[in-house]
Amino acid sequence: MTTVTTLKRGSEIIVSIESLAFGGKGLARYNNIVIFVKNGIPGQKLKVVIIKKSKQYFEAKILEIISESKHYIEPVCQHFKYCGGCSFQNLDYQIQIKQKTKQIEDIFERIGNQKDYITYPIQKCKNIYEYRNKMEFTFSNRRWILKNEPLNVKSDFALGLHIPGRYDKILDINQCHIQNNIANKILNIIKEHSQHMEPYDIIKHKGFLRNLMIRHAFNTNQTMVNIVTAFEDTDILKPIVTKLVQDVNSIASIVNNITTRKAGVSIGEYEVNLYGEKYIQETINGLTFNISANSFFQTNTNQTEKLYSMIIEESDLKKTDIVYDLYCGTGTIGISMAKYVKFVYGFEIVESAVDDANVNAKLNNINNIIFFKGDLQNIFRVNLDIEKIEKPSIVVIDPPRAGMHKKTISDIIAKEPKKIIYISCNPSTQARDIKELSIYNYKLKKILPLDMFPHTPHLENIAVIEK
Ligand SMILES: C[S@@+](CC[C@H](N)C(=O)[O-])C[C@H]1O[C@@H](n2cnc3c(N)ncnc32)[C@H](O)[C@@H]1O
Repeated sequence: MTTVTTLKRGSEIIVSIESLAFGGKGLARYNNIVIFVKNGIPGQKLKVVIIKKSKQYFEAKILEIISESKHYIEPVCQHFKYCGGCSFQNLDYQIQIKQKTKQIEDIFERIGNQKDYITYPIQKCKNIYEYRNKMEFTFSNRRWILKNEPLNVKSDFALGLHIPGRYDKILDINQCHIQNNIANKILNIIKEHSQHMEPYDIIKHKGFLRNLMIRHAFNTNQTMVNIVTAFEDTDILKPIVTKLVQDVNSIASIVNNITTRKAGVSIGEYEVNLYGEKYIQETINGLTFNISANSFFQTNTNQTEKLYSMIIEESDLKKTDIVYDLYCGTGTIGISMAKYVKFVYGFEIVESAVDDANVNAKLNNINNIIFFKGDLQNIFRVNLDIEKIEKPSIVVIDPPRAGMHKKTISDIIAKEPKKIIYISCNPSTQARDIKELSIYNYKLKKILPLDMFPHTPHLENIAVIEK
């Protein structure tokens, strides 16, 4: 029998999956050693092979399902087995959200050293499919060929998503179940009408078509298509534009971002407008927001309405309050709070998002808000205008996955807000930052998790912190 001391790469063992670890792998134990199993779900008994060994844990992949989990459900998506987009379409949604709550609490204890706070019940998604308002696909001349595909399948064109762990291989996608039907229709129209065009080769760095971003505003029924190319040639794209405008009623904006950068990012060095406006509009809780192609906007519209309502409720706003909205994107949170407070100041690094934020404030007749463009890593120290503004009573923080820079945390502490509402899609960095804040007598009072991303390991969490 294999023992822990002899366990090594290539060892085959039988394990039972106990829970889901943060990041989406199944967690099992073998003689008290933690084994992370790719694609394992709680309740499965599996024969696995060790693929990686480190001091504290092993990683394994499934060789055989010995007995299936009672929480198993049949995945709806034909691409599920290969696609990197969803991880748990095969796990009952009730168990997904139970596991996500447990992950946050574990992380807050392990990384944040937090114990004395209240966890509110996780806010479930009403729609667990067709919930995403934005998806990004990649064009490639290196299609991932499945074993059951015919031998003559066109291998030098794909429009889809990356095969997990492969930056160079793209799984051709026909239908993505977490985006809506309009977006799937657009995906297929573009695929059909771009077959003769040259997709970008990510290894040789040549070719034309790079990425496709589809964004749909659920409440206004406006759709944006952003085609990212390696150089500008709008004539090549004309037939696609004509077809989309003809066949898709909701098309309100088609733009072309052009990027010469080697990395596979969909933000272009510049943008050309191909049809309609350079933005679409969405409404959230009765407020209207312009969103342009390169501005951040929360990807689950339904849950965003809940998220913003919860932020307002937890902030317990007063007419005397000064709010700082850090990492404000298109200004959505600050604008949602403005009518309840004396003044809001928003801070954001992306210029197009700040432009959208200024327009959004006007669109909603909000006059007690100002947005500053800059890097929060230094903006409070390099921008002398900011030094003069009133100190905040409440700071709302909604950073990217990496969390806050240490200098930003110091700047917040120096402003002495009474309350901090910290929203994050990465509880690890959120817990790390809250640990730092707690050194300066900021206490975590409660966390309010919210599921924005069913079938994926991602989760959103609001932390209420007070001095
Ligand atoms: C998770 S989004 C939140 C946006 C907004 N609060 C919302 O709900 O739509 C994070 C935002 O932080 C911005 N950002 C990232 N790094 C930044 C930095 N160093 N300084 C200022 N803003 C930054 C991004 O451009 C993005 O708009």
